[in-house]
Amino acid sequence: MENIDITIRKAIPDDAKDLLAVMKKVGKETPYLIMDEQGLELSEEAMRLNLENLYKSENNVLLVAVMENKIIGTASVKASYQKRMEHIGEVGMSILKEFWGYGLGTQLLDEIIVWAEETNVIKRLELTVQDRNIRAIHLYRKIGFIAEATMPRGAKTDDGEFLDVLLMRMLID
Ligand SMILES: CC(C)(COP(=O)(O)OP(=O)(O)OC[C@H]1O[C@@H](n2cnc3c(N)ncnc32)[C@H](O)[C@@H]1OP(=O)(O)O)[C@@H](O)C(=O)NCCC(=O)NCCS
Repeated sequence: MENIDITIRKAIPDDAKDLLAVMKKVGKETPYLIMDEQGLELSEEAMRLNLENLYKSENNVLLVAVMENKIIGTASVKASYQKRMEHIGEVGMSILKEFWGYGLGTQLLDEIIVWAEETNVIKRLELTVQDRNIRAIHLYRKIGFIAEATMPRGAKTDDGEFLDVLLMRMLID
């Protein structure tokens, strides 16, 4: 793994097919996301259009980690086009399981923060994370996110068990 080149870049419309496949795989591999094995349920054409708009957006971004021409991880920020909320970006991240634990999540999140600082629009990054997702919470705290609240019944397992979810934030300035 150490000798393999990984590039992090913004997603482009031509990534649509690969991205849909990766999101589906990630949804199957991890119980920590809202998305399940159904994936995003978007057509490739709709995904292309999404990516085109994202690429042009000032306060939304999708970064991909690419290894040997294959996407192995993503990090995103979603923000509103409404003026009064445009400074709030919601962070999402997912990496294929075989690549967990090599520092890729740290690298992706670092890039997200650099991007956010450069936008001059995003002033608050926020995210929600299941409180059993120890790895992700460790990563977010390490980068500087702070837990603001615990949301009881913030999510549910496939077996119907309620889960606590943390709301975390990082102010950009
Ligand atoms: C969360 C995720 C993005 C992390 O990516 P990653 O590449 O494994 O992250 P990194 O290797 O950069 O960092 C993981 C950190 O967690 C730590 N960690 C791993 N397992 C841990 C555990 N059980 N307890 C405490 N810390 C743990 C690692 O030591 C590392 O910290 P360090 O850099 O201080 O040593 C990845 O696991 C993932 O995609 N998970 C599934 C989707 C998901 O949960 N997304 C987040 C939803 S909010």
